[in-house]
Amino acid sequence: MLPRRRLLTGLVGAALTSRRARAEERRDERRRQSWAFALEEVELTVPGLHPAHDGLRVGQLTDIHIGANTPDGRVIAAVDALNQARPDLVVLTGDYVTRRGDPLERVPELLARLEGDVVAVLGNHDHWTDARTIARDLGRVGFCVLQNENTLLRVRGAPLCVIGVDDGASRRDDVARALHGAAARGSRLVLAHTPPTAAKLPADAGLVCLSGHTHGGQIWLHGVTEGVFARAGQPFVRGAYQVGGNTLYVSRGLGFGRGSPLVRVGSEPEVTVLTLRAG
Ligand SMILES: [Fe+2]
Repeated sequence: MLPRRRLLTGLVGAALTSRRARAEERRDERRRQSWAFALEEVELTVPGLHPAHDGLRVGQLTDIHIGANTPDGRVIAAVDALNQARPDLVVLTGDYVTRRGDPLERVPELLARLEGDVVAVLGNHDHWTDARTIARDLGRVGFCVLQNENTLLRVRGAPLCVIGVDDGASRRDDVARALHGAAARGSRLVLAHTPPTAAKLPADAGLVCLSGHTHGGQIWLHGVTEGVFARAGQPFVRGAYQVGGNTLYVSRGLGFGRGSPLVRVGSEPEVTVLTLRAG
């Protein structure tokens, strides 16, 4: 009897071990999923681009929503991915947090490792939380924060004008002010959290506008989500569009806001590397 009992004990032990291993595998898979994002490589044609900028690579992170619902691991992995991609410029297009009570101190902590020149604008949730602190902290880690203003960078030995328009959802997108004193031609890049701001740009100006805000619809039902967003005043949900003779790219963003559904269906979190081509 004794060997049989030992055998049974051994079998039960093995079953428990394999159950534990399966539970650990499931936990690891959940962790991998929560860190997961797609690195989108996008090519955009830009009329008037300086010849030195043909092939210029711009990394974009948006809608990071640092806080309880976006795992820090995903943000760290996204920063690592952008650093590895070695773009010429990194742009951040708003919604670093979601609302009051979110850990503002983690915004500079998590993003400071971004390498190279970083230019940032703010989103609606930043204004609803504490725009002054977020802008100050991003500035302290060396990022250029633009609120309806522009800056002239030197990239690959040629001037690149970056125009930062403030958030449109909170009606702070003053395009005329943002463009004041900006280069009228050459390489120009517009950053604006809300995609409809692109419709306020001067028509046929050969501008490229990078946006976020929509989370790519977050729950993407083909033929349904775009209609719902259009009725809510957001006709540009994801990907590239021509708007008034200018080009708009809308990223699906990286995170989850509090209060929004904690699921993305057909709308994977996104880190973007855009390559600009002379038109
Ligand atoms: Fe957002």
